[in-house]
Amino acid sequence: MSKFVIEGANKISGSIKVHSSKNAILPLLAASLLSSDPIEILDVPLLEDIKVLLQLLSHCGCDVKIEDGKLQITPDIKNGDINVDGVNKLRASILLLGSLLARGKKVVLGMPGGCNIGTRPIDLHIKGLSQLGAEIKLNQGYIEAKVKKLKGAKVYLDFPSVGATENIMIAAVLAEGETIIENAATEPEVVCLANFLNSMGAKVMGAGTDTIRVLGVKKLFGCSFVPIPDRIEAGTYMAMAAMCGGELELTNVICEHIRPIIAKFKESGVKVYEGENAVRVEAPDRILATDIKTLPYPGFPTDMQAPMMSMLSIAKGTSVIIETIFENRFLHVGELVKMGANIKVEGRVAVVEGVKKLKGAKVEAKDLRGGAALVLAALSAEGVSEVEGAFHIDRGYFEFEKNITSLGGKIKRV
Ligand code: UD1
Repeated sequence: MSKFVIEGANKISGSIKVHSSKNAILPLLAASLLSSDPIEILDVPLLEDIKVLLQLLSHCGCDVKIEDGKLQITPDIKNGDINVDGVNKLRASILLLGSLLARGKKVVLGMPGGCNIGTRPIDLHIKGLSQLGAEIKLNQGYIEAKVKKLKGAKVYLDFPSVGATENIMIAAVLAEGETIIENAATEPEVVCLANFLNSMGAKVMGAGTDTIRVLGVKKLFGCSFVPIPDRIEAGTYMAMAAMCGGELELTNVICEHIRPIIAKFKESGVKVYEGENAVRVEAPDRILATDIKTLPYPGFPTDMQAPMMSMLSIAKGTSVIIETIFENRFLHVGELVKMGANIKVEGRVAVVEGVKKLKGAKVEAKDLRGGAALVLAALSAEGVSEVEGAFHIDRGYFEFEKNITSLGGKIKRV
């Protein structure tokens, strides 16, 4: 089990390139099973979550090769029984249900895992796939599902779930007839998946709005595809520079995707300059308090809540943070408090009284984004910190310590 040892209070300045989005790539991997030909995905950061899903594709029978970020998948489905280790490490493994059913396979899938940030039910996935004609049985610890041929249907989502929207889209592209997803998620990752499916020959319309229409086709073909940049990785580095008094340029950024994040940085006194596929931030003398409420896109992303809380813990004034998406997403609060932050939580609301400086401490990452938030806090704090549980952070930040070191931060993995 590795941990990060961080010597704080060093300026974070310079320029780095943001990687492709993990949350955009995971659905593409699941959707690759739909193609009859090889698929190429470029600029793939080999993060832990991506490795696990690739192992599950290999387990199904696919041939998977990755070299210098160029991923080649030759889809083949010999095995729909994936009640194996790995499924439980990853929430996105539930997307294999949609793609295997679309290929008419009988599926046995272990219960998906992922960050411990709430109950994370899968009822909307099950409801949607059942409406397309799948027979799904939930057993203790695993799911069984089968269908001869999925049939298009109208599916209304009670909540615009990102994963359920993606799963139903994936299932619908090879279904007979038309599927309409109402109250669909509008996140950029959903649009990226639609573009990927369409470049394989699917007919998906309306992604990015709350109504997605899918006209089923008979077959999908190979393609070469570049995923969108990671908006959460970008936001995390922006917060890091803002907290550590630096100037940072990020390339490979779609500013449109980080609009709500940029708005909150500006309210906090951080200077943000938008360029073409790039963004530059300049830290203020002191961060200013601001309020945050996480919401589905284009609202403020829940994945940026923890890094933002870290930043606001050293702001001038009091910030109120409301987490509306996941009910257990304040696991980082207790750890930030160990570093001198003054934060009180009542249900889904955190009240952050800014302090002047955090101080180094031994803390533990308990989930991916909360873990990143602790690294940010440690980089800005006075003294040395140890952040245990680096594996959580490795799930979502590629070459994290290499990037931080290149920007002037002092971080070591031990
Ligand atoms: C995805 C992201 C995750 C991000 C989240 C919200 C990936 C791999 N992960 O997760 O980083 O934090 O979107 O932007 O892309 N829900 C149900 N029933 C369901 C499905 C979801 O009640 O069947 C609820 C969840 O418990 C949660 C809310 O809907 O409260 C949002 O979840 P969802 O949008 O599905 O998140 P994920 O796709 O799991």
